[in-house]
Amino acid sequence: MLRLLIILTIASFAVAASTERSIEKRSSKYEFVNEAVTWVDAKAACEAKNKKLAEIRSQADEDEAVAAVGGGGAAFWIGLVDLDGDLIFEYATGGSLTFTSWNTAPFQGGGQCVVDFSGLWRNSLCNDTRMMMPFICEPDPQVTGDPHLTTFDGRPFSFQGICWHTLFKDCSTNPAFEVTAEFEPREDSTLEHVRTRTVSVNVTVGDDFAIINGLDVVTGTTDGHVTAARPIHVQEDDKTVTLTFISKDTTFTLSWTLKKHSLRVSTSGSDYRGHLCGLLGNDDGDTLNDFTKPDGAVVHDAAEFGESWRVEWKKCD
Ligand SMILES: *[C@@H]1O[C@H](CO)[C@@H](O)[C@H](O)[C@H]1NC(C)=O
Ligand SMILES: *[C@@H]1O[C@H](CO)[C@@H](O)[C@H](O)[C@H]1NC(C)=O
Repeated sequence: MLRLLIILTIASFAVAASTERSIEKRSSKYEFVNEAVTWVDAKAACEAKNKKLAEIRSQADEDEAVAAVGGGGAAFWIGLVDLDGDLIFEYATGGSLTFTSWNTAPFQGGGQCVVDFSGLWRNSLCNDTRMMMPFICEPDPQVTGDPHLTTFDGRPFSFQGICWHTLFKDCSTNPAFEVTAEFEPREDSTLEHVRTRTVSVNVTVGDDFAIINGLDVVTGTTDGHVTAARPIHVQEDDKTVTLTFISKDTTFTLSWTLKKHSLRVSTSGSDYRGHLCGLLGNDDGDTLNDFTKPDGAVVHDAAEFGESWRVEWKKCD
């Protein structure tokens, strides 16, 4: 009996210790997975964690990635790919590269994926068992489907709210920016099962806004004046709209795909880690506090959390 009690005590102690470990703050947005696989398998492994293969968007990202794998000497897969073999590499989730760090310029036959050798890149074969490498994953915050959301810290949930909600904003008392999205019921919605989708996104930075509605983008100032220097950069092609803005050391990139009614967010920079709020959470590395309401209360229920971020003053059709 005593022996059983001791075993039980040790077991519950072990459970407590592991819970504590899981709520430790990460020091980096990158998760190093020290397991040698092909690029194709590395990408799938990150996706299975609701993450993406790391997309290096700046020198600061690069330094953080190298630090995440434990410093110099390591080689690891990153999320860049040359889809059609023309040696023009893109982020694996879409979009042109904003930063490059090639060691040797990509060459024909070298391969359509990218391996990072301690900060310097080379193209390599994507699905060849002679090229097996560890890899790093990063969160893939997004709103897609009806809406399934993934927070900055990587917590997935679904929320069928209607009308405008705050996706994320600078959570200081004088927010420098705010991103809101409008959800409306899909055609296949029933009264019992409301399924919604994202139809518009409003990005406001200071006094400027850009609103994506379908594939149209309207920009302007909240006070109606026209200013020359636009803080929100808009890039459009036939399938996607990309909005980019910078606040403090952080570049936010929002990529909207109308066909999927999906919005992906990428960040590069650290000043806002832990200082964001909204449906996409606070970006502090801890998924357990992602459901924080505007009043600071942490809740468990996705619907209660989601409704708390409804933009009260905005009317919907
Ligand atoms: C990768 O290679 C394996 C084995 O040859 C093959 O079964 C798989 O379909 C390939 N995957 C891709 C995405 O090419
Ligand atoms: C976009 O959002 C900002 C900030 O919430 C708001 O002031 C502005 O009125 C919105 N624009 C439109 C056209 O709804």
